[in-house]
Amino acid sequence: MIIEPRMRGFICLTSHPDGCEQNVKNQIKYVQSKGAIDGPKKVLVIGASTGFGLASRITSAFGSDAATIGVFFEKPPTEGKTASPGWYNSAAFEKQAHQAGLYAKSINGDAFSNEIKNQTLALIKADLGQVDLIIYSLASPVRQHPTTGVLHRSTLKPIGGAFSNKTVDFHTGKVSEVSIEPATEEDIANTIQVMGGEDWAMWIDQLKAANLLAPGAQTVAYSYIGPSVTEAVYRKGTIGRAKDHLEATAFEITDSLKDIDGKAYVSVNKALVTQASSAIPVIPLYISLLYKIMKAEGLHEGCIEQIQRLFQARLYSGNAVPTDDKGRIRIDDWEMRDDVQAKVAELWKQAETENLGELGDLAGYKNDFLNLFGFAFEGVDYDAETNEVVKIESIA
Ligand code: NAI
Repeated sequence: MIIEPRMRGFICLTSHPDGCEQNVKNQIKYVQSKGAIDGPKKVLVIGASTGFGLASRITSAFGSDAATIGVFFEKPPTEGKTASPGWYNSAAFEKQAHQAGLYAKSINGDAFSNEIKNQTLALIKADLGQVDLIIYSLASPVRQHPTTGVLHRSTLKPIGGAFSNKTVDFHTGKVSEVSIEPATEEDIANTIQVMGGEDWAMWIDQLKAANLLAPGAQTVAYSYIGPSVTEAVYRKGTIGRAKDHLEATAFEITDSLKDIDGKAYVSVNKALVTQASSAIPVIPLYISLLYKIMKAEGLHEGCIEQIQRLFQARLYSGNAVPTDDKGRIRIDDWEMRDDVQAKVAELWKQAETENLGELGDLAGYKNDFLNLFGFAFEGVDYDAETNEVVKIESIA
């Protein structure tokens, strides 16, 4: 079929297999261009199909020849109906990894469930013996708790009072004021259940109990801080509470791994266009202004540049892993530079519908958004017939 983007709100209903493959190939090429990393050898990536998790899987495999198991929750294709992009990304990743002689298998299902955890543990046991790096990169709006069965929904709300600020509809470029009502205590608790650290700790506990963690194994989860303009809806909002919980969990996991000399880290990453971040009010406007500044300063990075730098310059540099005073790895350092933030704050005051095309990098935002679904890549013939029913070579 010929596949075109079909937008609905913050999502695109279609995705392009050839474009997703191009995206994966571009990321592989980037990692290879930066040279070998003396990194992990057997890696489990939870949330491996898009965004930071996909970049982590690619960096592990093509930066340090690692065997990878990827867990994700994606929609497979059917005749006449495209898959979700993470499906096509994973198909392309496995194809490239297998061609390069690397072990790569994937598990599609709910990572919060006992069933998928057990399946993953069995696969590690059978094929890899142990893993030496576990990346935890889930971004989900819901979690069914594996013990209580309760379905928790996360929210993106301020805490303590309503919040109003500018936002942009990145499809139309219209800047408007958005007002969000404050969270209830229940909203906060639910968001912590979904995006906090409990599930991460469950994974690591179960891996350890089954003796599937190599001596010195490391685990990394991703967090975000960001500027004062997004603070009310992000870091000081419900999702921020969940990130606080995730960050606190890193210390608990490190404690639990003492006897195998293991370590848990949270890495604070840069704001990037992903399916998860496009849905957060205010963030797309911030990102479009940030991109303008960071690109002008030669500081811009996407997911793959961020994760390649995380591995090469932080986790596997050969030196002690540098952290901030809260024990977090910071690869949002360029985003948070005072000069960058001062310029973004200045643009923020001026940004409106009429001038955003000039002040911000709206075109870059839109392009990145299309890229998430495999559209707008150079080298892909979007007018050509393509086969939407793509298989992932080793999927369970
Ligand atoms: P994403 O939406 O691109 O990727 C989410 C991944 O989780 C996908 O692989 C998806 O299949 C998987 N997933 C979702 N629900 C699942 C489930 N129930 N079972 C199994 N897999 C499931 O998200 P993104 O942006 O890469 O986020 C990953 C992490 O990075 C999150 O913790 C996010 O908060 C964090 N982060 C994101 C930033 C951003 O600007 N996008 C900035 C800093 C941190």
